[in-house]
Amino acid sequence: MVFKAYEYIKEKIDFTPEIGIILGSGLGGLADKIEEPLFIDYKDIPSFPVSTAPGHKGRFVFGTLSGKKAVCRFHYYEGYSTEQIIMPIRVMKLLGVKTLILTNAAGGINLNFNVGDIMAITDHINLTGTNPLIGKNDSRFGERFTDMSYTYTPSLIDLASKTADELGIEIKKGVYLGLTGPSYETPAEIRAFRTLGADTVGMSTVFEVIAAAHCGMDILAFSLVTNMAAGVLDKKLSEEEVLEIGALKGEQMQKLIAKTVERL
Ligand code: HPA
Repeated sequence: MVFKAYEYIKEKIDFTPEIGIILGSGLGGLADKIEEPLFIDYKDIPSFPVSTAPGHKGRFVFGTLSGKKAVCRFHYYEGYSTEQIIMPIRVMKLLGVKTLILTNAAGGINLNFNVGDIMAITDHINLTGTNPLIGKNDSRFGERFTDMSYTYTPSLIDLASKTADELGIEIKKGVYLGLTGPSYETPAEIRAFRTLGADTVGMSTVFEVIAAAHCGMDILAFSLVTNMAAGVLDKKLSEEEVLEIGALKGEQMQKLIAKTVERL
């Protein structure tokens, strides 16, 4: 399945993308910065999973970002199996991607964080209850047991930190906790996750990161704190707030990523 999709795409593009980018919900603006974009709709790719969620533009964007060849997509999980979620990562690997950059919208667990903060992810806690590598190992991509010790590439975090300093953008660093959703967390869960050492919480990223680690990619990932997690503030969580802050603060994160990519 992965190889069929790869062969279809390979025919359509005349360059090797070195950077793969996966954008969180409401954070798609970076895709508009890609120059000379070539769009490939998922529905046209043989055996490629197509989201069941209405209104989602399911497509890859291929082109140039800050002088580097890149391929961009969005996280859309609705109705996907974990195997389907990681398929685009494996297609990216086959196409030549060496560095994966991800963004997500997340709730702030760390009480020193504020809405609108950008956090470079230094590590994650996978509490989805599953793992995308369950099943027979595909040794063309990686080993049976994947080391996760340095998954979020330390040199890339350093590069992003320095770049942020130079741009005058303050960034936090911390641990992302991944869940399946789609309900948000309860306040009791958030208190528990804080004691576990989590700084942000969200419903994406960990499956793709595990698949990317399995096939040996370098990884740089950011959370945008679109809301404080449940129970931190005395109010309800809403998807509108998440999208609103994403639109408002996403621009800074795009700038940071574009400049970091320039320096890769
Ligand atoms: N929890 C889980 N996922 C999220 C949140 C949250 O508070 N905000 C944005 N995505």
